[in-house]
Amino acid sequence: MREDLPQLLPLICPRCRTVSERGRELHTVSVEQALVRDARGEIVEGILRCDNRLCRRAYPIVDGIPILVADLAGFLRGSLAQVVERELHPETAALLALGGADSDPYPHLVEHVSIYLDAHWGDRAEPPPDWPGPRFGMEGLAARLRARAALRVERTVELGASVGRGVAELAAGSAITVGVDLHFGALRRARRLLRGEPLHYPRKQGGAPLLDGDRARRRSRGAGRGAGLRRRARSAARAVELRSRGGDQPARLGALAAAAPVGDRRAVPSRRRG
Ligand SMILES: C[S@@+](CC[C@H](N)C(=O)[O-])C[C@H]1O[C@@H](n2cnc3c(N)ncnc32)[C@H](O)[C@@H]1O
Repeated sequence: MREDLPQLLPLICPRCRTVSERGRELHTVSVEQALVRDARGEIVEGILRCDNRLCRRAYPIVDGIPILVADLAGFLRGSLAQVVERELHPETAALLALGGADSDPYPHLVEHVSIYLDAHWGDRAEPPPDWPGPRFGMEGLAARLRARAALRVERTVELGASVGRGVAELAAGSAITVGVDLHFGALRRARRLLRGEPLHYPRKQGGAPLLDGDRARRRSRGAGRGAGLRRRARSAARAVELRSRGGDQPARLGALAAAAPVGDRRAVPSRRRG
């Protein structure tokens, strides 16, 4: 997160905002401490604190993403896998996902981000998605956002930015672009891509479900196909690579945030050639 983000785009404390006889009362948050910085001097981990002296609520910055939610403990209960995950080789991620039901936190995370990465960045992915129709799900919207960027504005904010293609397109016509989403796993990947860094992820092939052993056995009861289904599920996860343009357009990340801001960018990942 850029340290000057709160000056570029005020971030509001979700804990103490209220409506009183004076109208809406909102208080900003400020950077209190940078715990870890990256080579560009941006904050990777740190603390934001509410400027309201009656509140003074602290919010974490994780992986450069400010997490501005009123109920942090509740948010973590639902998003723990997303917040504390680390980058794994796609094969490792696929195997870990295979160990649980599709609705379990990690398998769900792996599938969710894979679907959105294909939809947002499928034109830059190697191998590309093999579905029929447009090269990637967001192709039409991305083209419209690109056309809209011809009219330059000071700031743009995308609500529900997910893995960041909209932010990338909007940033072409805006001095600062901020994306907001509640899905921390999506924002973490958006941040990487918007900084021009490569990203690897497992993609399911042919819609084959990643089943755990019990569910695979139940589904194949009577047909004796449990092991076959599990083998298919494993081989169905294919490693995909999203590559940046090699750093020729340095990223200028504002902030990515959960239930509050994502980032400004300049670097756009491109499909690997050759
Ligand atoms: C249908 S997706 C659209 C993503 C992207 N804009 C696109 O066009 O592909 C909606 C996104 O909104 C996010 N979202 C839903 N409710 C939200 C909320 N209250 N605050 C922030 N993000 C939210 C979801 O996590 C999800 O990433």
